[in-house]
Amino acid sequence: MKIAYLLAYPAGHSISPAMHNAAFEALGLEARYEALECPPEDLAEAVRGLCEARSYGSNVTIPHKQAVMPLMDALSEAARAIGAVNTIINQGGSLLGHNTDASGFLRALTDDAGFDPSGRQTLILGAGGSARAVAYALLSAGVKTLRVYNRTHAKATALAESFAELGDIEAISREELATQAEQATLLINTTSVGMAKAGEDPDVSPLPVDLLPHAGLVCDIIYRPAKTRLLKEAERAGLNVQNGLAMLVYQGAESFQTWTGQDAPVQVMRRAAEAAL
Ligand code: ATR
Repeated sequence: MKIAYLLAYPAGHSISPAMHNAAFEALGLEARYEALECPPEDLAEAVRGLCEARSYGSNVTIPHKQAVMPLMDALSEAARAIGAVNTIINQGGSLLGHNTDASGFLRALTDDAGFDPSGRQTLILGAGGSARAVAYALLSAGVKTLRVYNRTHAKATALAESFAELGDIEAISREELATQAEQATLLINTTSVGMAKAGEDPDVSPLPVDLLPHAGLVCDIIYRPAKTRLLKEAERAGLNVQNGLAMLVYQGAESFQTWTGQDAPVQVMRRAAEAAL
């Protein structure tokens, strides 16, 4: 029996176990996926445990995506560029830190939304960890321009500086947002604004409705609710929309593939994720 783990704190709300266990079952693999509730002080020991023979490795999520980096034996190019690890691969006792968020996002764009980002003018809202993965994905895919708007401008500036070598990326101010949003044909929300959270009103949008792009695709990496206020307003304005479920499924599919060496049953994983939501 092989095991893939999830290192998280708290671990309770994740839908990754449902997704991966459905995939193991569909392929008839003697394997399971297990969420480990791992407080920060137990992280180093949990990571050491990933070296054992029965372990495929793990996924890594909040709050450990950066903290595991110095505990890895090696890092993939994507993990190093993004500055976060969401997947650990046990290679015979040696741990490779990798990141499948960027490739998951790109595959969701191309395969599900049918959108080719190359040569596009693009705009990201937010400058946290998810924004870094999306920025790396878009610059790697050859977008024409990438603009980053964030409530805290200094974080957008820092993000843009750290990816400057990969393409035309700039942080923009609130004053520039109207022009940049109008010109963009791909806009991605990576902030948590509009996410369903206990005790909070999810009927809020990170972008005033009059600043929506004039054409193209609006993505939200939020998948709960399935349609955020941003996506509802974009749809009403005649734009194409995509939520974060496809990205979630494809980042999981790529993790699965790196662990097992087999193509992930993507439709099975998507159905399991939807059922678990
Ligand atoms: P993640 O890893 O999911 O990206 P994160 O690193 O905590 O999470 O980043 C959250 C992002 O959502 C940030 O860009 C944050 O803006 P700040 O840098 O100004 O904090 C953004 N965000 C969260 N709540 C917000 C709000 N109420 N209004 C605007 N932006 C918000």
